[in-house]
Amino acid sequence: MRALTAKTLLLPILSGVLLLSPPIAFGDSPEFPTERSDLSPKDRKRVAGVTRPTQDFSKAENFETMQGGAATTKALVNGDAFSHFSTNLTFAEEETFKLGNALFRKLWVSSPSSTQASDGLGPLFNARACQSCHLKDGRGHPPEGTADNTSMFLRLGRPARTEQEQEMLARHEALNFPDLTYGKQLQELAVPGLASEGRMTISYEEIPVTLGDGDVISLRKPTYSVRDLGYGPLEPDVTLSPRVAPPMIGMGMIEAIHEADILAKADPDDRDGDGISGKAALVRDHRTRQIKLGRFGYKAENASVRDQSASAFVGDIGISNPDAPFDHGDCTSAQADCLARPTGVQERLGETEAPDPVLELVTFYSENLAVPARRDPADATVLKGKQLFYQSGCTSCHTPKFVTRRDADNKAHAFQLIWPHSDFLLHDMGEGLADGQQVGVASGREWRTQPLWGIGLTETVNEHTFFLHDGRARNLTEAILWHGGEAQAARDAFASLGRDDRAALIAFLESL
Ligand code: HEC
Ligand code: HEC
Repeated sequence: MRALTAKTLLLPILSGVLLLSPPIAFGDSPEFPTERSDLSPKDRKRVAGVTRPTQDFSKAENFETMQGGAATTKALVNGDAFSHFSTNLTFAEEETFKLGNALFRKLWVSSPSSTQASDGLGPLFNARACQSCHLKDGRGHPPEGTADNTSMFLRLGRPARTEQEQEMLARHEALNFPDLTYGKQLQELAVPGLASEGRMTISYEEIPVTLGDGDVISLRKPTYSVRDLGYGPLEPDVTLSPRVAPPMIGMGMIEAIHEADILAKADPDDRDGDGISGKAALVRDHRTRQIKLGRFGYKAENASVRDQSASAFVGDIGISNPDAPFDHGDCTSAQADCLARPTGVQERLGETEAPDPVLELVTFYSENLAVPARRDPADATVLKGKQLFYQSGCTSCHTPKFVTRRDADNKAHAFQLIWPHSDFLLHDMGEGLADGQQVGVASGREWRTQPLWGIGLTETVNEHTFFLHDGRARNLTEAILWHGGEAQAARDAFASLGRDDRAALIAFLESL
């Protein structure tokens, strides 16, 4: 992987799009900086030195424990490990964080109700609060037994059908197209008296996999469908993309990574021939409509925490807000009953169900959840596992570290050495993980590299170890064995390790 100039970066991205669609004018092509604009040449050199992957596995690196930079929390490791605010917030910011926290946990109710400031739920929804899915600010899980599906849902989308729709995709004006009746996602819940859209069902098939040393691991392959469809059939070309709520930590730091640092790792046509490409997600900022680098969501479809949060309010809870002013959430014109329901807009409070400053506060909260400190980066087994992680090629996508931009909007996020272990690029992960759903630049086989910080505390916080976008992996070993496509060689390297070495690599992941 190598740094690219503006031309070599743009051409492959654009030609990739052009192959699929008729030539169109690129009036507003993104002009991303190819070099960090926030640093002097001397600082650029320093940063390059600090972020270069280590080759010394005899001891922990400087500052490795503080994986979220100065925002890292060293609080006691317990079930609240993901719920602390960044330790470098000012006192006034702590207060803002707490107000945001209350709104993140707030249970919205259906209209009309006596608690008017909480009105507006739905009419169709997946959950009543952000926290219902991002459990303890951590991750959700697939339903088990008779438990409900709350912290996981199906996104609905279909590909372009016409030239005009293809142009919209190429211009990043649309990410894909919603189902005519059910909209952009399947809402399993509805306000009293309204039909819900249906229920996600999952069936698993066990697939045995033999590792290099003869050990056999069973992977469960999921198949998704919808039963009890409340409003007739889905359109035939609509695909189902299952997603479990991801953990909420370190998000402001991810926002503060300079574009040039992410783009430097992009290699969409694999010109360096290492089998790993890595594509930048280009999306529109919801408010300015400018083309930005997508960083959030499993397919990097949102450029900012604010955009992701605004979409969550309206799509997941059915709460309109200034950035997504749809009082009836994701109901479509084919759902007349839904559109006829009262909304929760209170004119004395504002024009939407969550008027300013609700979205700002929730965004601030989401941007400032601290990353927990590494527990034992200097442990001999952890260091051994770290070496194997690097040698197996995991770092080709799970980029260990970045230094955030010096000119970040929030000083707490500025110029921090952080260790997310992600390149925030899209990769083809093979047929096994494919959902078949295009989301903007991301194909039906592509996913954003998932950051790994905090992953070792999943069980501590959420009392389960389900990983990957749909929680199919029941532990870290299964998560690695599902890697395919561009990650096939890394997966095979892991599978060929002996039992002790595999355990060491897992011990490294558990120390993150
Ligand atoms: C019904 C479950 C659900 C609810 C409710 C929910 N989320 Fe999420 N959240 C998800 C899922 C699933 C994703 C991954 C989305 C994707 O891939 O597009 C996600 C992703 C995110 C991300 C990006 C995380 C990342 O790693 O990129 C943020 C930030 C976020 N949610 C904030 C919120 C906020 C704020 C609220 C409340 C307004 C909220 N969410 C409500 C399920 C939920
Ligand atoms: C080609 C890029 C690539 C390589 C190489 C790669 N990964 Fe990943 N990794 C990803 C992507 C993309 C995801 C998200 C996949 C999904 O959710 O379906 C992921 C997810 C994971 C997860 C689950 C994260 C979570 O929060 O659920 C773990 C653990 C992981 N990778 C470990 C590894 C290890 C260990 C290696 C080396 C043996 C490795 N990866 C190599 C791209 C890569």
